[in-house]
Amino acid sequence: MAQADTQSDRGVVRPAESGSASAPEPPAPLAGPGAAPASRGVPSPEELLARAVAAAREGAALARQYRANGVGIIGSKSSHTDLVTAADRAVEALITRLLLEGHPEDRLLGEESGESAADDPNAPYRVRWIVDPIDGTVNYVYGLPEAAVSIAAEVDGQVVAGVVRNVFTGAEWTAVRGGGAWRDGVRLTGSRVASLDVALVATGFGYEAARRAHQAEVLRGVLPRVRDIRRMGAASLDLCAVAEGRVDAYYEKGLNAWDLAAGGLIAQEAGLLVTGLRGAPPGPAMVLAAPPSVHGALHDLLVELDADGGP
Ligand code: IPD
Ligand code: CA
Ligand code: CA
Repeated sequence: MAQADTQSDRGVVRPAESGSASAPEPPAPLAGPGAAPASRGVPSPEELLARAVAAAREGAALARQYRANGVGIIGSKSSHTDLVTAADRAVEALITRLLLEGHPEDRLLGEESGESAADDPNAPYRVRWIVDPIDGTVNYVYGLPEAAVSIAAEVDGQVVAGVVRNVFTGAEWTAVRGGGAWRDGVRLTGSRVASLDVALVATGFGYEAARRAHQAEVLRGVLPRVRDIRRMGAASLDLCAVAEGRVDAYYEKGLNAWDLAAGGLIAQEAGLLVTGLRGAPPGPAMVLAAPPSVHGALHDLLVELDADGGP
């Protein structure tokens, strides 16, 4: 795996050598069992997933190309550590074009360009795409192989299909609502961890210093109560890791819709409880994804530690 040489040359990073997917692509997945049928001219979740998967594969290929040619850091966003690269923008532009071409009635929310407006912003719509072109941008810039394209499709405000594709390895996770969660043809069921004290828990941190300070305090309370902590650096991949049982649980404050939409559905379809705290839905204040066996204990610990409070 390539590393950035120094802080000063971080604008041009050598290509990552490991993990590039070169195997021929399998076809986009077909319908999982039990998914909702198409209605009133809205494409079925399976059709939406097929479009999402095709776009995610092209987006990931473009991200790898940019990686091979040197990652151009354009600047930062919410704080000086929140990077944006030419690849983030180019990948989002490509995915947007692929998803909306021939579907002018659809809307799209992308991390880099915000909410698309149709010619008539008041025109009714049913399908909205939610796109994180590169989730794990810091990993991407450093050549650490945990960065992903994340695409979800909402119908009437509910996420019905999602794909997360690791840009470096080509691993791909998919779900349609009611049809289970899948990785490369294998159905995912999360972990069967018995109790919180032996749970491996993933988490992540925001980009602002004050929020990080609060998150560090919460972590101080969590760490002695669990097997261990992982901070892998891409929320969508964390959610897929919980779906797969590669970690037992995940929590994070501060996620945006594009971090959560696809991975959240995948985790839920794998049988995890994906919630906020105190009965709230998952969202910016808190996303907690855990199997039923430890959800209650981790939930109560996070409440005790005021994990959804602070800046
Ligand atoms: C970030 C990553 C990170 C998480 C942050 C996200 P970005 O997304 O998912 O793991 O901790 O909350 O903002 O900026 O790399 O797309
Ligand atoms: Ca993200
Ligand atoms: Ca991003």
